[in-house]
Amino acid sequence: MSRGPKTVAVIGLQWGDEGKGKIVDLLSGRADVVVRYQGGNNAGHTLVVDGRQTVMHLVPSGALHAQAVCVIGGGVVIDPTVLLQEVDELRARGLLAGAGSLLVSQEAHIILPYHKAIDQARERKRGKGMIGTTGRGIGPAYEDKSARTGLRMADLSRPEHFTKRLREILADKNDYLHAMLAEERLDFEAMIRELLDCGRRLAPMIVDTSSFLDAAIRAGKTVLFEGAQGALLDVDHGTYPFVTSSNTGSGAVANGAGVAPRQLRRVVGISKAYTTRVGSGPFPTELNDALGERLRKEGGEYGATTGRPRRCGWFDAMVVRKSVRLSGVDAIALTKLDVLTGIDPLRLCVGYRLAGQAIEGIPALADDYEAVEPVYEELAGWSESITAATSVEQLPAAARRYVARLEELVGVPVGILSTGPGRDQTMMLSDPFDFSS
Ligand code: GDP
Ligand code: IMO
Ligand code: MG
Repeated sequence: MSRGPKTVAVIGLQWGDEGKGKIVDLLSGRADVVVRYQGGNNAGHTLVVDGRQTVMHLVPSGALHAQAVCVIGGGVVIDPTVLLQEVDELRARGLLAGAGSLLVSQEAHIILPYHKAIDQARERKRGKGMIGTTGRGIGPAYEDKSARTGLRMADLSRPEHFTKRLREILADKNDYLHAMLAEERLDFEAMIRELLDCGRRLAPMIVDTSSFLDAAIRAGKTVLFEGAQGALLDVDHGTYPFVTSSNTGSGAVANGAGVAPRQLRRVVGISKAYTTRVGSGPFPTELNDALGERLRKEGGEYGATTGRPRRCGWFDAMVVRKSVRLSGVDAIALTKLDVLTGIDPLRLCVGYRLAGQAIEGIPALADDYEAVEPVYEELAGWSESITAATSVEQLPAAARRYVARLEELVGVPVGILSTGPGRDQTMMLSDPFDFSS
């Protein structure tokens, strides 16, 4: 057995909703600790176990496994009401039962009611130019973090101090809401009452999660880092400004969880066998036709957080290749291959053209990316159902060829292959928690 940290990160390689919840749940069976490290309740991670569906927004997707300690790191922005509601629902099912089964970083910033109000009012004001945010206050909360006007879990643990700071900040926020966005002012008394109530309930969970994780990793525990959103929604490397407000690649694990970069050993990148996007922004391989509608219907492509229909299109190797490079992905978890059954021919995007010229990479300017034309390669489809396949050998030859070509194009192997939403509909071709090599 080789020495070194037993840590794995699972990250999205497209525009989110790649199936992170399913894969994290699956891998959590062998994890001692499962950690969310960025984003907030803009995430919607779906787990299907024995036919029962659970959607996680803030609590790590390891929560269905009793042995796994769930951690919410300092890079996450937390809406306390949403977190407690999720905890209550899980506890009612006998999950997250013991003290210490969920730990929340004292450094995590709090999403406050004015963050949501500002997020939603700005979107209304943008009209057709809207980003299509989830309206959960994510952007304004991260803005306050950078502007050094945010409130953190550590503040919430001190009611008197928190009350004083919130009163000061809310006065400013109300002026902004009223003068700039023509919104109603928010009431301080109701807000503080609810927040302090949440603070009392959360207090036992609020700890120094960074030190906890360091000790766990040094003790040889297996730790799974659960990404939210996807690489193309990254605030630096995504399709700016049509992005979320956090870093979503493996680079964010260190800052968001509070561990050293070299404490992350392995990176699993998740991709659908096609592409989806929810919200506005460029999407070169989008299908605005019956085929797009078919993918939406067969794939159940409706947002797990907002219920919005997801935009659907062909697999884009240009997108996934960039994400693989940025995050140092070791292996791909390829999901939803079953959804492509019955579509013939299939297409893979292998390059881009802009103004008639072949281009390398993804243009930085959204307007340019919007104007890009995808270059496609056609492959034969298959018609046999693959949802019960348990090995690659059982897949139709055309499905094997599709996966092999996709691997070639993105430059890393498929290590996990998913052919349905259930835990058992998964082929583990190489185990990310096997550190023997
Ligand atoms: P996440 O945000 O990355 O966790 O993904 P979502 O949960 O938002 O969306 C993925 C959806 O696809 C969920 O409804 C999953 O249950 C479902 N899903 C995951 N893997 C597969 C698969 O291989 N096949 C099918 N048909 N559905 C899948
Ligand atoms: P999971 O973790 C898909 C998108 C929104 C919008 C943009 C900005 O389930 O993959 P925000 O509310 O973050 O300011 O919205 O980002 N978005 C997601 N799309 N999956 C997600 O999370 C997303 N989280 C945010 O639709 O386009
Ligand atoms: Mg999702």
